[in-house]
Parts: sequence; C-alpha cells; structure tokens
Amino acid sequence: MYILGINAYHGDASAAIVRDGQLIAAVEEERFNRFKHCAGFPAESIRYCLKRAGISIEEVDHVGISRDPSAHLHKKILFAATRAAKNLGSGGRSDAEEAGRSGRGIFGAVAERLANTARVRDLKEDLAKRLGVPKSRLRAQFHNVEHHRAHLASSFYVSPFERAALLSIDGFGDFISTMWGVGDDNSIDVLGQVEYPHSTGILYTATTQFLGFPHYGDEGKVMGLAPYGKPRYMDEFRDMIRAEEGGRFRLNLDYFRHHAEGVEMSWEEGSPVIGRIFSDEYVKRFGPPREKDAPLTDRERDMAASLQLRLEEVGFHILRHLHEKTGLTDLGLSGGVALNSVMNGKILLHTPFRRVFVQPAAGDNGTAVGVCYQIYNGLLGQPRSFVMKGADTGPEFSDEEIHAELERSGLAYESYSDREVTRRAAQDMADGAVVGWFQGRMEFGPRALGNRSIVVDPRRAEMKDILNERIKKREPFRPFAPSILEERVGDYFEQTHPAPTMLMIYQIKPEKRAEIPAVTHVDGSGRLQTVTREVNARYYQLISDFGELTGVPVVLNTSFNENEPIVCTPRHAIDCFMKTRMDVLYLGNYAVRRATP
Ligand SMILES: [Fe+2]
Repeated sequence: MYILGINAYHGDASAAIVRDGQLIAAVEEERFNRFKHCAGFPAESIRYCLKRAGISIEEVDHVGISRDPSAHLHKKILFAATRAAKNLGSGGRSDAEEAGRSGRGIFGAVAERLANTARVRDLKEDLAKRLGVPKSRLRAQFHNVEHHRAHLASSFYVSPFERAALLSIDGFGDFISTMWGVGDDNSIDVLGQVEYPHSTGILYTATTQFLGFPHYGDEGKVMGLAPYGKPRYMDEFRDMIRAEEGGRFRLNLDYFRHHAEGVEMSWEEGSPVIGRIFSDEYVKRFGPPREKDAPLTDRERDMAASLQLRLEEVGFHILRHLHEKTGLTDLGLSGGVALNSVMNGKILLHTPFRRVFVQPAAGDNGTAVGVCYQIYNGLLGQPRSFVMKGADTGPEFSDEEIHAELERSGLAYESYSDREVTRRAAQDMADGAVVGWFQGRMEFGPRALGNRSIVVDPRRAEMKDILNERIKKREPFRPFAPSILEERVGDYFEQTHPAPTMLMIYQIKPEKRAEIPAVTHVDGSGRLQTVTREVNARYYQLISDFGELTGVPVVLNTSFNENEPIVCTPRHAIDCFMKTRMDVLYLGNYAVRRATP
C-alpha cells in the first residue's frame, strides 16, 4: 500500500511517501527549486517520492494533505462574525474602508481563506495537472488531515514510544496554534488546544520582525541572539502572553495586528512573505523597530532574551499540564516552535518528562510525514512499524553520477577507498581546512546531519569567523553546532539524552568549553547532534577518525549552503564549492581540492 503525504500552499512545502508503513522518502520543495522555505505546490518533491518508490502516481492508494478547511469551521465563523460585529458596533471604519486601508481587512482575510479552501479542495486536480496525467487516472483516495493532527502524528507514529504525551506548537494551522494529546499504539487522542488568534509562534515571529529580521524562518536568529542579552523585559513579555488554567495561554491582542487587521501573507510559489504582525501599541511600548541591518543594541539583545525566556515559561506551563493530565514521561514534540532547540534542551530540566522525540522536520515540512502515518496508523488502523531514527530520506547519487558531474565540471579530483575517505577528511579538518562533506541521502528538515554538511575542526576558535567570512555570511552572533559520538556525550555535555537531529541544546561542561571553542555559544551551550554508527555509519567514522587524530570526538557541522537552501545534488555542491572559499570538497569517495593560489 502506497500513501503520499503533502504539505502544500504553505511554507516549507514538502512531500513524503510511505510503502506498507515504511517511510521511503520525504523531501522539501526548496531543495529542488532553490527558493528558501518555498510555499506553493511541491510538484518536484512528489516526483522524487514517486521515483524513489519506483511507482507512478496512478499506483498510489491514498493521498493526504495537512490541511482541513472544514476543521474548526464553527470557530472560524464565530471569530469572523464577532470581529465584524465589533467593527460595525464601534461605529468605526466600514468594512470597505477597512479593506481599503489594510489592502485586505477582515473580509479580505475571509476571501483569502476561501480561495485557499478552494485550492485545497482542488488537490486532486492540481496533482493531476502538475504531474501531467488525466485526473481520471488517479485512483487514490484523497484525505484532508487537520494541520495539528498531522503534526502530532509526525511526532508519535514514527517515534520509538508505544505510548506518549504529544505537543504540537506553531504559528497557526487550520485556525489552531497549539494542540496536545496522548498517543497510544495506533491512535491519538486530542486533549486540548489553543485557538486563533493566540499563538506562541505569532509572538516569536512578531518580535523577530520587530528586531529587524524580516524573513520567514528568521526566528532561529533571535534564539541565537538571546544569550547575549538580559531578560529585563519580563514584565512586558508576561503581559504580552499570559498563562491560563489547563495549560492554556492568551496573547494580549493590543500588541498584535494579525487578529484585527489581518496580515498580508503570500503562500504562492517562492519564499513565503509575511507582513508586519506587531501593532502600533507594540511600538509605543518598545520604541521604533530596528531596521534590518542596523547595529544591534542592548535593547534588541534584552528583548530577545526576554522573549526566549517567556517562550520557555509558557512552553513548560503547557508541558507540566500535559504531564499532569497523562501521567506520562515520554514526549513527542512537533510544530514550528518545536524547532526552538534551546527550549527543547531544557524540557528534561524543568518538566517531569524523561524522554523526548522531536520530529526532525518539526515545521510544516514534517506534516507530510504526519499525514502519511495519520492515514496508515490512525485512519486505517495498521500496526506501527517504523521509527524515524535520523532524517536521511532525500535524494542520493551514485558514484557514477558523481563521477560524471565531476567530469563535466572540469575540476581535478582524487578518489579514495571507503576506509581512506574519512581518514583523509579527518586529517584535512585537523589541518584547519574547511571541508565540504556530501554523502548518501539528503536530510529532511532544517538541519544538515552529516550528509550535506560543511565540517571543520571545533578546537579552532577562529573557525567561526573563517566560516562566516568565506562561506556562510551569517550574523556573527549565531553559533555553530557540534556533532559528537553518542557514547562520548557525557564527557562534554551536562545532559546525555540523545539529540540525533540537532533539536536539543545543552550546556557544555565548563572544563570542556575551551577545548571546543568554535561550537561553544556565548552562554556555554551547544546545539549538539549525537551520532551513532547505526544511523550514519560514514559520518560516525569521520568523527571517530577525527577523534583518533586529535583526542576530540567532536566536529563542527554546519549546513552545506551559502545563504540558499541546503545543496541537494552534486552539481549544487560543486557550484557552492566554486562560489565560496571551501578548501576541499568530498563527494562520496571523490575529493576536489582548491588549488592554492
Ligand atoms: Fe504548523
């Protein structure tokens, strides 16, 4: 049985395919069309999934999408009606004026929602059209899976837990921002939710915009900035988002525009664009927003610190409630806010949860996987049979394909045996080289985990600046991440719970910080990846060889890209190598060295 899961018309458009319960492939559209966080319809991703499964679209039994326009419909109507009544009752602007002023207004918002609804209903037609087959040839059953149920499914059915508490937390999807429940064998019970317009993701995004980071997905920059500040705005942030009984919370809506005026959003092909969410009241409280690229001051650093701390307070408030309700100590996490690895890393310290599985593609990309398993396990009642231990579910390239691409490039290259290739790369790193490491299947989700990575020696403090100057061009305050052999985590970190997909941040032991300065953040933390031979044998060998050479079983791992989506193909990797000042590029068993000038 084949099930195709799709996240479309939303950020991080993606597709996944499952055969008899086994995840065959999952991939984001941005990797093919090269638009970061690309929205729209993931046609290339679907083509890749089908190709990997070795089937045509006609052979797919079920197709699902992670939106259900009919879900929570009464709540949507109630909200729109209340809002419209308020506008009329206040004797304020007419709806026409409202629409004219904001370019959209509440009716604009409703109209846009209806247009999106229509598009979701046309999924079958879009799919047929984009794959170039007549609609009549698609024999699959089509499903709408409510957005947060898709998230919850992505954090449970592919987790190692038989029974677990589940939390999905994001900006919004299908009118909901937060949903929690309990997963048991092959079903999920929803226990609670927080509805539009209240959202931790909206608070984080609004503040990210205010701090001068306007792009979709910039929230991670603010998370990286937070440890440089002091949380001296806690009163303000506690006023902006208030915890309530039963694990719930509310935004103080005075600070936001999304609920009243609507926020311009574009989910067309290309990178998503989101209009200003923070309100004039927000500006009154904190002063003028920082312009993009203006110098960072204490205000920005302290706001970031306060926001991060407040998010953690609210997150743990929800999680403690979830534990109280379920009595469980295993947790499945998903949703865009679950990409906040600083918060995730503190869960074991501040809540009763003892084991955590975070869906590697915790953002909306991962809902494509959730959809597949919600259909397979939840709907069809099939037994659980798959654990997502890593995230290597994307395209891979044979030695022949890599060789052909190298020939086309005209670059000089060497080739090594399996055993030699990791030894040579480890030696290059130890010698101070910036190493491109392109191996096996591309990762799903935002993190490169040793297959599409740039790796360097973490003992060299100067590596942060070298990487930023020569390749990444990132803000200097953002940290780089360590990959460490799983069995050595306890030697370097204060916590030892596995973090195989780089979604937990722990404190590095004080006595070890000077040993790996390039991956130690200003507050002594590190966003680690724990690596096992079982999940990635070649990457494990690379770190192991580096450890043998240097005594340090840790490498700095950053994604293989230069301010663009992570590379997918050997051609992308070679282009990136040529454009940047990487020293050596390993593609499978081949290596290309930059000629010394
Ligand atoms: Fe979401």
